Amino acid sequence: MSHATRYGFWHRNIHWLTAALVIAALALVELHDLAQRGSALRSNMMYGHMQFGMAVLLLFLPRLVLRLTGMEPPVEPAVPWWMHLPARAAHGIFYLLMVAQPVLGILMVQASGRSLAFLGLPIPSFVSPDKALAKTLDNLHVIGGNVFLWLAIVHAAVALWHHWGRKDNTLRRMLYSRD
Ligand code: HEM
Ligand code: HEM
Repeated sequence: MSHATRYGFWHRNIHWLTAALVIAALALVELHDLAQRGSALRSNMMYGHMQFGMAVLLLFLPRLVLRLTGMEPPVEPAVPWWMHLPARAAHGIFYLLMVAQPVLGILMVQASGRSLAFLGLPIPSFVSPDKALAKTLDNLHVIGGNVFLWLAIVHAAVALWHHWGRKDNTLRRMLYSRD
């Protein structure tokens, strides 16, 4: 009997699109400190960070639907049962962060009294300006951002280890080439 050897086409697309947006958001915010304070470059980098971050939130719902309705192709050669546990935990944390991180960012900016727009469309204000709240949300956003960064590095390293070290089809299930 034949079975799926890769994630669905749209699932793969949305995985790589989200990955690119997250990596771009992280790179912009980590590098923006190199630009001079008050410069247009610095504020454009933060603008990009926020737009890419909000796009991650927009893609979350279709992604969740694809995940819940799609097939998870088997890993070949099969991995020991316990290896699924850290993988599931990491994927679960990613799903949580893909919602929590942009939401914290949006609320943080609004609590600090600034208005927000996504691709030019104004976003309604969910919180009133409140300095203490903004600080708390900022702290949570920084912690979440750092977890996101390190989890992404480990996740990518593990994917490459599966491909080149263990030589299984874990990475190919997310790619486009013919088997
Ligand atoms: C996937 C989405 C996102 C990720 C991974 C992310 C990650 C991060 C990280 C790592 C930092 C820097 C932390 C540090 O200083 O070490 C940061 C800062 C910041 N982020 Fe995000 N972020 C995301 C979405 C957003 C969104 C949607 C907004 C607002 C609309 C936002 C607004 C900000 C702001 C204003 C800062 C600067 C905070 C400060 O200067 O203390 N972020 N983000
Ligand atoms: C930084 C952003 C990334 C995020 C948020 C992310 C998120 C995820 C999530 C949640 C899954 C579970 C399948 C799903 O529900 O879609 C997954 C699977 C996968 N990702 Fe990523 N990913 C990122 C970057 C990468 C990179 C850079 C690589 C490659 C080097 C990669 C390779 C894979 C592979 C091979 C799988 C399939 C693993 C499996 O099914 O166990 N990802 N990713």
